[in-house]
Amino acid sequence: MKALNINLTHKTYPIYIEKGLMNSIGEEIKKIYARKNIVIVSDKNVWRFYGDKLVENLNKSGFKVNKIVVEPGEKSKSFDVLLNIYNKLLDFGVTRGDLIIALGGGVIGDLTGFAAATFLRGIPFVQIPTSLLAQIDSSIGGKVAVDLNRGKNLVGNFYHPEAVFIDSDVLSTLDDRYLYDGMAEVIKYACIRDEKLFYRLLSYNSKEELIQNMDYIIETCCNVKKEIVERDEKDTGDRMILNFGHTIGHAIEKYFNFEKYTHGEAVALGMYSITKKSEELGLTEKGVSENIAKMLKKYNLQYEIDIENKDTILEAIGVDKKNSGKFINIIILKKIGEGFIHKIEREEINKFI
Ligand SMILES: NC(=O)c1ccc[n+]([C@@H]2O[C@H](COP(=O)([O-])OP(=O)(O)OC[C@H]3O[C@@H](n4cnc5c(N)ncnc54)[C@H](O)[C@@H]3O)[C@@H](O)[C@H]2O)c1
Repeated sequence: MKALNINLTHKTYPIYIEKGLMNSIGEEIKKIYARKNIVIVSDKNVWRFYGDKLVENLNKSGFKVNKIVVEPGEKSKSFDVLLNIYNKLLDFGVTRGDLIIALGGGVIGDLTGFAAATFLRGIPFVQIPTSLLAQIDSSIGGKVAVDLNRGKNLVGNFYHPEAVFIDSDVLSTLDDRYLYDGMAEVIKYACIRDEKLFYRLLSYNSKEELIQNMDYIIETCCNVKKEIVERDEKDTGDRMILNFGHTIGHAIEKYFNFEKYTHGEAVALGMYSITKKSEELGLTEKGVSENIAKMLKKYNLQYEIDIENKDTILEAIGVDKKNSGKFINIIILKKIGEGFIHKIEREEINKFI
């Protein structure tokens, strides 16, 4: 089994990557958790495929299991659902040393992680990410949060799991739209840090070939994120590099009211559009945007967008919570595999859209 360790100043924890890992999960959890009580938090879609199997497996290893299953989708990353989780944890008599498992995509990981971070001032939790996005991104790095009506992820914390268990077999039940949504973030990692990954992704000729290589892809992406998070756990500097495509991407998501494009789809548009401009400005090697376009097309991601009202996009960027003051940081590529942070005056963003 592949294992990466996330080494932070105050904590080290493992990420395990193996096909079929769900079949031996009880025994794996036994190695890191000595008590009996476990609460699984999941959503209805994921529970339908993997819930009973997980409970059975944990029971076999001697654990007593309770479950909390919420509605699927971003709407569940709310205070209402969080409150419901706290109440259920109280009903189940959960105490400080008990364990919570987040079984699901990024919504479940963020919501459960925040519940674990705050319930009784913090109880241990484990991530079993089931969407590609969660396996390569949201389950690593310790960011946990819920949304407010006025914006996403506005209340949160940095709170790391005891371990992350990644079984790429579960991606077989994921809708294609979410698979390719996650691929946008995979492509992002390749663009900013890993030329070899980029050209391997470009060489795959079918979904089957992509799936066959999934463990290599997941491990490579986790490694990139691990290195960046270890250097800048609290997102005050270098971690910003992970925002490649995100400044414009967030603005596009917002412009379309979070209805037309998924996060990954918007990031794809953002990566291409900023690279096209940075190439024209001579900051990026020639041909990079064309390669990105080719890649995005291959993974069913739109790369060009016609925005009638550019001002609305600029306005959305202006209120992005990651930006403050006169300057903003944007992420651009020198070439494929080499991203860097570029500081510009706020008004200069015009040139990049
Ligand atoms: N914490 C972080 O660092 C971080 C990073 C990126 C994104 N996020 C957050 O992640 C969330 C998005 O995550 P997501 O794209 O995984 O969304 P999601 O959790 O809503 O999952 C997408 C859909 O796929 C379904 N699903 C998940 N796994 C499945 C499986 N194996 N089989 C069948 N269906 C499955 C879910 O039920 C849902 O309908 C957002 O809230 C975003 O803010 C957090």
